[in-house]
Order: sequence, then C-alpha cells, then structure tokens
Amino acid sequence: GLQNRLPARGNLSLEHLCLYVCSCPSSLPRLLIVYPWTQRFFSNFGNLSCPTAISGNPMVRAHGKKVLTSFGEAIKNLDSIKKCFAQLSKLHCDKLHVDPENFRLLGDILIIVLAAHFGKDFTPDCQAAWQKLVRVVAHALARKYH
Ligand code: HEM
Repeated sequence: GLQNRLPARGNLSLEHLCLYVCSCPSSLPRLLIVYPWTQRFFSNFGNLSCPTAISGNPMVRAHGKKVLTSFGEAIKNLDSIKKCFAQLSKLHCDKLHVDPENFRLLGDILIIVLAAHFGKDFTPDCQAAWQKLVRVVAHALARKYH
C-alpha cells in the first residue's frame, strides 16, 4: 500500500496528509483565483467575481471537497488508480472537455496548499513524494483522452 511505497516523512505521515487533503476545501478556490481561465468550467457555480466571492462560494467549496476526496481516495489506492479513474477520465474528457493541463495545475496548487498549511514539516523529501503522487493522479485522469 501507500505507506510501504512512501513511508512517513518526518512528523508527517502520508495518511495524515491524505486526511488533510480529503477535508481541505481551499484547493479548488485557489485554482480558480490563481488561474482565472479555469473559471469557465464552473460558469454554473454562481458568483466567481472576486477572490472573496470564490472562496466563500458554497458550490465551489462543495465541489472542491468532492474533487479532493476523490484525489485522496486515489492515492490511498495507488495500485488500482488507473481503474479507479477510468470513468472520471472519460467524464472529464468527453463530457466536461477539461484540458488535462488543468490536472497538473491543480496538483501544483495542492502542493502549495500543503506547504502553506504544514510549513516546515512539509519537507523537501515530503514534497518530492507528493510531486510524484500528483503526477500519477494527473496521468491517470488524462489516460482516456483521445
Ligand atoms: C467533476 C474529480 C480536476 C472540472 C468532478 C467529479 C469528480 C472530479 C469526482 C464529480 C463527478 C460526478 O459527479 O460524477 C476530479 C479530480 C481532479 C479533478 C480527482 C484532480 C486532479 C478537475 C479540474 C477541473 C475539473 C482541474 C477544471 C479546471 C470538473 C467539472 C466537473 C467535475 C467542471 C463537473 C462539475 C459539476 O457541474 O458538477 N471532478 N477533478 N476537474 N470536474 Fe473534476
């Protein structure tokens, strides 16, 4: 499992980080603020007019939680991640038309959110492990694109 492949780093176990990721509502708002062109996928989400509106938007928060929970689940099941994400990959490609570049952007955002939250405990070694994880997730989500 995950713990064997990526053992605990310093004070932060991956389990602990996963737990935070699954319950962390700030990554999607940050994506929409830092990369405003990503807002166009969420035009039915109501008020996205400024950072305060985005961060306080309940639809953005709810969806962010859904996405990050799915992300967290995937990294707990790394061995079956391609299978896990096959349907989601099809959905993002065929129905939502989300450019896979955006999966990479969200991965980078997630790492910044973790660094901001955990500070010095999010060591370079820990970051290295997460860079790999977010790459694997982005890759799995892009797999059914054609
Ligand atoms: C929907 C996961 C990235 C755009 C969803 C859903 C999940 C999900 C679980 C709900 C599917 C359902 O209701 O059946 C993920 C994961 C991502 C990711 C794990 C990790 C990298 C992105 C990015 C964008 C995006 C980067 C766009 C910039 C959307 C949109 C929907 C959606 C527009 C439909 C929203 C709605 O109207 O309900 N995603 N997603 N996703 N995702 Fe993603």
